[in-house]
Amino acid sequence: MTQSTTIRWEQDETGIVTLVLDDPNQSANTMNQAFKDSIAAIADRAEAERDSIRGIIYTSAKKTFFAGGDLKDMMKAGPDDAQRVFETGTGIKAALRRIETLGKPVVAAINGAALGGGYEIALASHHRIALDAPGSKIGLPEVTLGLLPAGGGVTRTVRLMGIADALLKVLLQGTQYSPKRALDNGLVHEVVATREEMIEKARAFIDANPESQQPWDKPGYRIPGGTPANPKFAANLPAFPANLKKQLAGAPYPAPRNILAAAVEGSQVDFENALVIEARYFTELVTGQTAKNMIQAFFFDLQAVNSGANRPKGIESRKVRKVAVLGAGMMGAGIAYSCARAGIEVVLKDVSAESAAKGKAYSEKLCEKAVKRGRTTQEKADALLALITPTADPADLAGCDAVIEAVFEDPALKHKVFQEIQHIVEPDALLCSNTSTLPISALAEGVERQGDFIGLHFFSPVDKMPLVEIIKGERTGDEALARAFDLVRQINKTPIVVNDSRGFFTSRVIGHFINEGVAMVGEGIEPASVEQAAAQAGYPAKVLSLLDELTFTLPRKIREESRQALAAEGVEMPVHPAEGVIDRMIDDFGRKGRSSGAGFYEYGEDGRRGPLWPGLREHFTKPGYEIPFRDMQERMLFSEALDTVRLLEEGVLTSVADANIGSIFGIGFPGWTGGVLQYINGYEGGLPGFVARARELAATYGDRFLPPALLVEKAQKGERFSDA
Ligand code: NAI
Repeated sequence: MTQSTTIRWEQDETGIVTLVLDDPNQSANTMNQAFKDSIAAIADRAEAERDSIRGIIYTSAKKTFFAGGDLKDMMKAGPDDAQRVFETGTGIKAALRRIETLGKPVVAAINGAALGGGYEIALASHHRIALDAPGSKIGLPEVTLGLLPAGGGVTRTVRLMGIADALLKVLLQGTQYSPKRALDNGLVHEVVATREEMIEKARAFIDANPESQQPWDKPGYRIPGGTPANPKFAANLPAFPANLKKQLAGAPYPAPRNILAAAVEGSQVDFENALVIEARYFTELVTGQTAKNMIQAFFFDLQAVNSGANRPKGIESRKVRKVAVLGAGMMGAGIAYSCARAGIEVVLKDVSAESAAKGKAYSEKLCEKAVKRGRTTQEKADALLALITPTADPADLAGCDAVIEAVFEDPALKHKVFQEIQHIVEPDALLCSNTSTLPISALAEGVERQGDFIGLHFFSPVDKMPLVEIIKGERTGDEALARAFDLVRQINKTPIVVNDSRGFFTSRVIGHFINEGVAMVGEGIEPASVEQAAAQAGYPAKVLSLLDELTFTLPRKIREESRQALAAEGVEMPVHPAEGVIDRMIDDFGRKGRSSGAGFYEYGEDGRRGPLWPGLREHFTKPGYEIPFRDMQERMLFSEALDTVRLLEEGVLTSVADANIGSIFGIGFPGWTGGVLQYINGYEGGLPGFVARARELAATYGDRFLPPALLVEKAQKGERFSDA
């Protein structure tokens, strides 16, 4: 008998076999080749020694129960590999199925996170007990990587909870549940507090259910809620499109559709055939480009960024204890909440006690909501709020070891507030500005310790947005950079690091997206088509509605300042076709965006967005004028991608992973692309294909689409954008 390498077989005198998942070569268990071989050997042994076995318990010797599929392997699956991938999935599935149908009770003792493949092992067990370990998550998040769970995940969740619940609760959003919420939603049977209790309960289940079987293997089993063949089923159907609408927008993101198809088609055949259907839909996904883009970004790039690939080496990490937040407006209030949520003491300062209290009230509102929804307890909410001290008195900032400034976007005011506080806070406090566009090196002037001064650019709403852009000024020291990085991680956000420049990376690049959308309106394209093009390209916010939120005066101010700054260096900034449209909206029609009650859209008295303003068609639209829909989408996507390459050329960006993660998490570049540089890598024909298409767009729509030298050079050398 082959000795299994990643699974230990531990049989006690009562005949209970504990299968300990413990890959000796990795910190977490994954569905790699070694696991495939091991689980097959285990199934052989279980069948051969069936009579001496009373029951089986899966558990793991690692901190996590099981990490999931082997993503490195999946990245290698090319379009011609369909057959190989299909077989890999089948091997593991077949073994799990043999153990599941042995006729002996099988229990999953889930001692830590069980996501993807890990939860699929649990699903192939008759009873699932989860340990309530901190940070433990349970679910099938494959959809967020452009995949579907092909280790039986679709087939078993459909049979466990019915098609509607399986799709909506587990498969389509990829929700990751805490053990308690997993219990509430029917993903596990029991939650326990200790490891001992978990094993005790597992044994108790085996004792009480000697001939246990999966519900779907019992005679007369029917899928809960019915199948499409059943008249009852149709009543559930209308709920699907509304829930799926966003994910199924025109972007090339086939995973939700394939999941839906696998679930519905698989429900109409027997279990074994459902597994085959699931595998076929998986194969299509894993051999396609979108899954590769998403695995690259949401797994590899995200891991590189969060683990500090861009943090200066050799500097000890330090935790912030007490932070001064200057300015309790929209951003300051959100920053205060995010810091307090991570257990940091916050002094929230504004010009008056009332404004400071108003800033704290924002946290009170968020806490109240969280308690109401059961996401936290009243006790924890009270403890969080007790950490925030609102004040108007600079003396209260004594003892702060970090400062985050979020007053109005006015360089003179920012200088003033730093001067006011620099001698009150700790003598080595980290000094951060949350400016969204002002160059950091210039803001640092007037501060005594310029080496400790750095940009920390949060995104709105701060409590929801996961990204923080760290901006290194000319004189920022490595120690400050490392401390800023650690602070961002301390508050559980994702840090990207860029060098100083006007608008940094994110504000500058999103400006191109907006300008391109506005320019199309100016050219005479139907505004509704422009919005549709953005949505169907996969942007989370439509382009005209986004500018309405930001207000039109902001881009005008930024462009005027940029033009002046460039003129001072003797450079003439070209006029973008969007400028005329924005000027007319403000000057001729008095429409400045949502905050003025009128923008590209109309707004009701309650501030609710109404329809697009009919005046747009009257003043800008040329009836019958159209350009290909693909051109509309690619003008937006290319304008952002091309400028990102320029930022790499200029040395503002220094890492491909930072660019990809920053674009998706900070400024809504479509997730299916894998980020702004992965979009270029994955474009049809690779970099040469992208260059050729950029030249085509330049010939039709203007020189701003000409590919930068770095891109052309990489295309010629056969390279791609990568940090490796
Ligand atoms: P806001 O107008 O909501 O808040 C500014 C706050 O600063 C006000 O409460 C004001 O009373 C206070 N303030 C003014 N002078 C002060 C002083 N001397 N001491 C203490 N507080 C003072 O502005 P918002 O939107 O929060 O923006 C703040 C900063 O964050 C700006 O630099 C902005 O560019 C930047 N930012 C804004 C983003 C956004 O989406 N709104 C995104 C990222 C950065």
